[in-house]
Amino acid sequence: MKPTNLYLHSAFQIAEVDSRIFGGFLEHMGRAVYEGVYEPGSKHADEHGCRKDVLGALRKLNMTAMRYPGGNFVSGYHWEDGVGPKEERPTVRELAWKSIETNQFGTNEFMRLSQEMGWTPMMAVNLGTGTPEEARNWVEYCNATPGTKYADLRVAHGCKKPHDVKLWCLGNEMDGPWQLGHVPAEHYAIRAQQAAKLMRDMDDSLELVAAGSCAKDMPTYIDWDWKVMDYLGDWADYISLHRYVGNEANNTADYLAVTASIDRQIEDMDAVCRAVQARKRLKKRAYLCFDEWNVWYRARGADQNGKWKPAPHILEEVYNLEDMIVVAGFLNSFIRHADVVKIANIAQIVNVIAPIMTEGDKMLIQSIFYPFMMMSSRREGIALRVGIDGPSYESKSYGEVPLVDTSAILGDGVMHVFASNRSLDEKHRLRIHALDKEILSVESAEVVTGPNAKAHNTFAKPNVVTAKPLKRVQIRDGVVQCSLPPMSFAAFTLRVK
Ligand code: AHR
Repeated sequence: MKPTNLYLHSAFQIAEVDSRIFGGFLEHMGRAVYEGVYEPGSKHADEHGCRKDVLGALRKLNMTAMRYPGGNFVSGYHWEDGVGPKEERPTVRELAWKSIETNQFGTNEFMRLSQEMGWTPMMAVNLGTGTPEEARNWVEYCNATPGTKYADLRVAHGCKKPHDVKLWCLGNEMDGPWQLGHVPAEHYAIRAQQAAKLMRDMDDSLELVAAGSCAKDMPTYIDWDWKVMDYLGDWADYISLHRYVGNEANNTADYLAVTASIDRQIEDMDAVCRAVQARKRLKKRAYLCFDEWNVWYRARGADQNGKWKPAPHILEEVYNLEDMIVVAGFLNSFIRHADVVKIANIAQIVNVIAPIMTEGDKMLIQSIFYPFMMMSSRREGIALRVGIDGPSYESKSYGEVPLVDTSAILGDGVMHVFASNRSLDEKHRLRIHALDKEILSVESAEVVTGPNAKAHNTFAKPNVVTAKPLKRVQIRDGVVQCSLPPMSFAAFTLRVK
C-alpha cells in the first residue's frame, strides 16, 4: 500500500487551540464523585477526603474546564442542599439516576478541588425543576463579595473569597424527554433567557452556554438549536453539543470512521450559529461547547438504574483499543475545528464512562486515558490544516475516509502531529513534511496500540493497551518517516526552525 504523506505549512492556520477543549465532566452519578474523586474512608484519602491516587492520575490528563454537577443530575439538583455543615445536609432521592444523594460533596468542595487541580469550574444550573432565581442565587453565592444574603452564606460556610466562576451552562439536555423538566424548544428558550438575564444582572462577566441538541439522531436535531439560538441571540456565548458513539454493529472499520460524522456535527452546529448571527444582525456570534462526548454504548439500559443506592455501579464502561482510536478521533476533530470549538468536556472523568476506574483501594487506567494525555500535553499552539495524500476506505455509514485520521498544532519552535492508523490488520507508512520549516529533530513520538480491536486493560492485566515510545522514527531528506502499527494512535513533537 502506498504511504500517507502529511503536508504541513505554517501559513495554513485554522485558529489557536483553546486549551478548554481538554475539559472534563464530573457528575453526581454512579461512583464518579463518591468512590471516585471523593472517598473519605479510602486509604488514599487526603485531609479533604479526596483520593490522592485518582487525583494523581487526573493530573496527568492536565484537564482544563471541569463541568459540574451534571448532566441529567442537575435538572433535579438544588444547590443549597450541597452547602453548609455536612451533618446538616439532606440525603435525597435523586430521580435522574434513581440513586441516593448524600450531598457530602457540593459547591465548596468542588471549588476547592478545582483550585487544587488547576481546573476552570464550569457550572451547570438546574433549568429542569429549578427556577431562574435559584440559578441567580447560586451565582451570588459563588461570585459576590460579602455583604448580601447568599454571599454572606458562602462566608458563613468558610469561603470568604468569591469563587469567581465565569462559565455557566443554562441547563442540560433539555431536548431529551428523559430530562427532568423537559420542555419544547420554545419553552426552554424562554426559561434560558430568563435565567441568563438574572444571572448576568448578578454578574455581567459570565460566559453562558445554551443547551443544544443532546444527540445527532434526535428528531428535533438542528430545529431545536435553531429555535433556541434564534430566541437567545446575544444571551448565549456558546451552544452545547453532546455525542456518545459506539460499535453496536460490531463493525470496527465503520466504527473507526465515525470521526467523519463528528466533523459533520460540528459543521452543522456552526452553520446554525452563523445563520442566527446573520439573521439577527448580531455583532457577536456564538461558538461551540462540546460539553459531553465519549464512547458509551455497552453500559446502557438496565445499567442506568441506581436502584436507590448511594454510589451505585452504573455506566461503568470498559474501554478497548478501538474505543481508544475513536477517542483520539474526537480530539482530532476538535483541533481541526479550532476556529469554532472552544470548549469540550470528555464525559466523564472517573468510574462513570471514564478513563480511570477504582475498585476498593485499587485504580485502573483504561485505554482512552492515553490519547487524551498525549494530546493534552501537546495542546499549546495554532491548529494547522493538514494536507493528506494517502489511501482511504469506504465506510458503511460515513462514506469515504482517509486511512489515517490526523490533526496538527504549530507551537513555539515545535510542531505536534497526531495520527491514527485505522487499518485493522496492516501497519502503515507515514511521512510528515513541514513545507516551510526545517525539521531539526523528533523531540518525542509515542504510540498506543494493542493485540486486537477488543483488547483492554483489567485490574489483573493493567498494561495491555498503554502508551509506549514509537521506535524507528527517522528524518530522511527533511521528512519524518515511520511506520504506524495496525489500529494505533501516535503523537509526535517535532522540533522545527
Ligand atoms: O454523561 C452521562 C449522561 O449522558 C449525562 O448525565 C447526560 O447529560 C447525558 O445523557
